[in-house]
Amino acid sequence: MSERSILITGGAGFIGSHVVRRFVTKYPQYRIVNLDALTYAGNLENLRDIEDAPNYSFVKADICDAEAVAKVFKENAIDGVIHLAAESHVDRSITDPLSFVRTNVFGTVTLLNAAKDAWKDRMGSAPLPGRGGGGEVRFYHVSTDEVYGSLHDDSLFLETTPYDPQSPYSASKASSDHFVRAYGNTYKLPFVLSNCSNNYGSHHFPEKLIPLMINNIRNNKPLPVYGKGENVRDWLWVEDHAAAIDVIFHTGKNGETYNIGGHNEWKNIDLVHLLCSIMDKKLGRIEGESAKLITYVTDRAGHDLRYAIDASKIERELGWKPSITFEVGLERTVDWYLANTEWLDHVTSGAYQEYYTDHYAQR
Ligand code: NAD
Ligand code: DAU
Repeated sequence: MSERSILITGGAGFIGSHVVRRFVTKYPQYRIVNLDALTYAGNLENLRDIEDAPNYSFVKADICDAEAVAKVFKENAIDGVIHLAAESHVDRSITDPLSFVRTNVFGTVTLLNAAKDAWKDRMGSAPLPGRGGGGEVRFYHVSTDEVYGSLHDDSLFLETTPYDPQSPYSASKASSDHFVRAYGNTYKLPFVLSNCSNNYGSHHFPEKLIPLMINNIRNNKPLPVYGKGENVRDWLWVEDHAAAIDVIFHTGKNGETYNIGGHNEWKNIDLVHLLCSIMDKKLGRIEGESAKLITYVTDRAGHDLRYAIDASKIERELGWKPSITFEVGLERTVDWYLANTEWLDHVTSGAYQEYYTDHYAQR
């Protein structure tokens, strides 16, 4: 495989750190530049094991800072972008929508401009949308299934499902998706895009359902289930998402969108009970003890009922499929958090405490 210089944004976050690790270790001939603003969600501890690799470098910068981003493109001769940097938590988007517009929309467009300017002499040769091949430069935008809205029957999200975002977070991600496609159409920027379902795994910030529940079970704190716990999410192991990103970046067709999902739907309340039962065993508690911590709290405003992905396109066209079952992935995940309680304690100290207290006190 040829040499490349790839910019990964948001590489200090949950999914980004798995993508960075995969690319740095699997492709020693690539130079991987991780650009991250290190917000509350970004943590360089997530990358300690690879930070000294000769093909890896880190730049602390904000994707909204056009000058800083242009400098990174120039100094590193970037020829590929995998864009993950975002504000990612739906609850925070309800209390502070503008920061989601800033990073997810303005930041994405700033990055698109930098790519368009840096690649102006290399975009003309890019293949037309849907005609295959990555071209010599490529912008990969990592997005979410939430752009499709909420399912109220037993159907699945397809790549052709119309956009119907329901939260400020999903509206900002939908907007960024539209900008990426618009740059493809208007400036012939070669791009690929993927929309993935809920990820779980190691290094997941404990404001999100699974790591929050694991952390609270371990600390004997209430387990806040929104509404009746009837909402359904389709869970995918984060390393399988990183593998899908690898496959799409290298073999996805220019201008195409790929849905990524785990065929793994769970009602929140059933998932929380499963976690309680796994944790009871791991912590040597009597079966049923952790479940006593379950507390039903006020529902999320505008809470999407169900997400579920039809991932047959990426499976059929690119040969990707999830590598492990949910049972195996969840057990590995719980084991990781229990072996990394220092990480949990560190990321939940400081500003997180304030967020947590405010957020759950209001429920
Ligand atoms: P995360 O919140 O864990 O990480 C986001 C990272 O982006 C952090 O390292 C943060 O410091 C960085 N960042 C935020 N604002 C920035 C800015 N202005 N400039 C530079 N860096 C900035 O998020 P995640 O869960 O890893 O999600 C990564 C991407 O994948 C997001 O685009 C998200 O929309 C998408 N996604 C997430 C999921 C999921 O289940 N977590 C599913 C599908 C898609
Ligand atoms: O579908 C992909 C999306 O999945 C990503 O785009 C988002 O970045 C990611 O955060 C995730 O969004 P969700 O809102 O689905 O994830 P979250 O972990 O916040 O919530 C999962 C479900 O659990 C949801 O129905 C709300 C519920 N929930 C969440 C929290 C934090 C609770 O019942 N209690 C809680 O305390």
